[in-house]
Amino acid sequence: MRKYEDIFSKKQFLWGSATAAYQCEGAWDEEDKGISEWDYFNHHSPLNINQEDGDSASDFYHHYKKDIDMMAEGKQNTYRFSIAWSRILPKGYGEISQAGIDFYNRVIDYCLEKDIEPNVTLFHYDLPLELAKEGGWLNSKITDYFNEYAKICFENFGDRVKLWATINEPRYYAYCTNIVGNYPPNRKLDFQSYFQSQYNLMLASAKAIHTFKEMKIDGVIGIVHDNGSVEIDPATKESENIFEIADFFYNRLILCPALLGELPPELEKMIGIFGFTLLRAENETELFRLGKGDYLGLNLYNRQYVTDWQEGKTEVFHNNKGSGSNNKEGIRVENIFESSFDETVRRNKWGREVNPRVMYTALKEIKNRYENPMIMITENGHGCYEEPDETGYVVDDERIEIFEQFLFYMRKAMDEGVNVKGYYHWSTMDIYSWINGYRKRYGLVRVDFENDFTRTPKKSYFWYRDYIINYFAEA
Ligand code: BG6
Repeated sequence: MRKYEDIFSKKQFLWGSATAAYQCEGAWDEEDKGISEWDYFNHHSPLNINQEDGDSASDFYHHYKKDIDMMAEGKQNTYRFSIAWSRILPKGYGEISQAGIDFYNRVIDYCLEKDIEPNVTLFHYDLPLELAKEGGWLNSKITDYFNEYAKICFENFGDRVKLWATINEPRYYAYCTNIVGNYPPNRKLDFQSYFQSQYNLMLASAKAIHTFKEMKIDGVIGIVHDNGSVEIDPATKESENIFEIADFFYNRLILCPALLGELPPELEKMIGIFGFTLLRAENETELFRLGKGDYLGLNLYNRQYVTDWQEGKTEVFHNNKGSGSNNKEGIRVENIFESSFDETVRRNKWGREVNPRVMYTALKEIKNRYENPMIMITENGHGCYEEPDETGYVVDDERIEIFEQFLFYMRKAMDEGVNVKGYYHWSTMDIYSWINGYRKRYGLVRVDFENDFTRTPKKSYFWYRDYIINYFAEA
């Protein structure tokens, strides 16, 4: 019987890559899979501006063996993937799909056969449509639905999966679904729903973590947070106050329950500042205390650079459209703070900062402020437009350059005592990007979406393989 404690004695450090179900699996209606909110949105909503969908995505459903083989050949020893809730429970609750269970059993077993440690995320944005119709993450009953679903996964896969995450990026997900409005159900600038759904996501996570502990599953479980470490533009007048408010907005509703097992002490003050109400569970103190995670998954792309905003209304200016422009991206919160623009920092084609130093500052900050938790970098990567040569090979030197710097800063933080146990590059192969479809590529392996989903490793794949080999040679 495999044991959690053996993982790090055998592998020392986890080096791998990551994907999410909707973004890679395809097979959207194969066997008795239910429809997810993303299936429905992409098929029916006029807001699907690219008219693309994840129906086939990278067709991982039928290519998983090839993908896992390539991870193993690339010396990766772990793989982070998510389970599609609607593949296990077509309606989100009730009847279980044996075909869904069988599929993930095949994936997990093949990972183990190839000595790849599976790291499973239970929810990565693809809510079953039936639950979305019942109010989704605003319906307080969802915390129990999620707990039931989690329990089924623990029962079926908990004997072999030792690394678990409940929810991917609850903060960023709540932001896109309620503030930007580019993810279904497309609410815009709805602060009330933004905070309530974060609360419900965290409560759902806490309940599932508690269930995991009660079932005495051998392994660790945590949540995955998008790095929102706040840095203040030096031009800011009242920087201390702005830091506290922005940090609450971007981080604290997630990090305090996840790492300290409690809601942030400044919650009441922030309810006053942002003017929202929270429908709260009666026994929330106990639930959050019992639902503290074992580690933090950190998705690290960039920081939140903010300044004060004294003169006007709330608005959101979210690019992520691949214009190649240098527009400012972020939010203005009426008379409080706004995202600032740092002209000294390089940007990618989507207007986002490419700022690898943030890996170091974020890790140090979490160590110092949240009791030095165990951390895994569950995502980090670089989205590009890419052109292969005639053989399908991509020379992604830009990705390699940035990748190397991010790893440099991660290792520097580790040398200074930050407890990082693993790193997952985003993404294993090219996959569907929520807002940019198939144009924005993150993969270490190219997928030819037009030609039988042919896989061709990119230059970065080989670079990463050699990096891992060297790491173990020096360790
Ligand atoms: C993370 C998500 O926020 O960012 C991933 O967990 C996502 O699912 C990744 O693909 C990159 O996002 P984007 O918008 O650049 O494709």
